[in-house]
Amino acid sequence: MKLLIAGGRGLLGNNILPILNNHFDTISLDIEEWDITDRDAGKSIIEQYRPDVLLNLAAMTDVDGCEDRRELAQKVNEEGAGIVAELCREYKIRLVHISTDYVFDGEKTSPYTEDDVPNPKSVYGMTKLSGEKRVIEKHPSPLIMRAQWLYGNGGENFITKVVRIAKERGVVEVVDDQRGTPTYAKDIGEPLKRLIEKAKTGIYHITNSGSCTWFEFAGEIFSQLKLDVQLKPTTSLKLNRKAKRPAYSVFDCTKVQRETGITMRTWQEALQEYLG
Ligand SMILES: NC(=O)c1ccc[n+]([C@@H]2O[C@H](COP(=O)([O-])OP(=O)(O)OC[C@H]3O[C@@H](n4cnc5c(N)ncnc54)[C@H](OP(=O)(O)O)[C@@H]3O)[C@@H](O)[C@H]2O)c1
Repeated sequence: MKLLIAGGRGLLGNNILPILNNHFDTISLDIEEWDITDRDAGKSIIEQYRPDVLLNLAAMTDVDGCEDRRELAQKVNEEGAGIVAELCREYKIRLVHISTDYVFDGEKTSPYTEDDVPNPKSVYGMTKLSGEKRVIEKHPSPLIMRAQWLYGNGGENFITKVVRIAKERGVVEVVDDQRGTPTYAKDIGEPLKRLIEKAKTGIYHITNSGSCTWFEFAGEIFSQLKLDVQLKPTTSLKLNRKAKRPAYSVFDCTKVQRETGITMRTWQEALQEYLG
């Protein structure tokens, strides 16, 4: 099966590519070769590679940056997603699209299921939700997978950032009023592969299991690394970042577990492998 990936050199792409490569004839491209907002470029890429399945990982993911560059966020996360979906329909290609927990407002206190109604609070979340809607409108049977709190190999992430600050300053302040599930990006590879093999469609939530706040996550990182750091809790209000984040975005992942037979390991176990 030929799998074409857009936005493949980002965090998620880098971490799941080895898994997908083992099972599919995979071609991974990024914005230098294929800008998803360019319909003609998309057409010629698809005609060149003729994939069976297209995995769209391309997005503007700088959550605070999206607040300042709303038009660009809309262009990539909404219009680009729509163009990809239209092309897939035209060329009868199966489509897998990736979305986010930021489509929710975070006002729930129990895990979000795929049937919960989204209500994004940030430009990033709004444009990602509009992207989902375009995908559903333009493609007859897309698979949409929502992920959250990803980290992995390649580039800076929450873990590398707090460890760097800890080593530089010895004191780290982290918000303690946002709860979710840190997820090792590579852990998404196997369930995604199975859903593709089984030709599943619809929306799926996926994370490692368990939940914590960013403060608790930082505490676990320092504890596993045996780093002696002064870790202080703070609030989103004090931090005053441009984009509003959901206070609670834990996912109910029963559906993906049922359809793939995979039980995701805990976020602490996944972290241990990453740090090791
Ligand atoms: N990271 C997370 O915690 C997280 C959580 C939930 C969902 N997601 C979703 O997962 C997917 C993958 O995210 P990621 O974490 O791997 O993000 P990422 O590291 O930013 O990767 C996205 C890739 O898309 C590229 N891109 C941007 N605009 C493009 C365009 N117009 N055409 C083609 N490629 C373009 C980016 O290139 P540049 O770097 O040059 O812009 C980057 O290589 C996204 O849909 C994201 O919304 C991520």
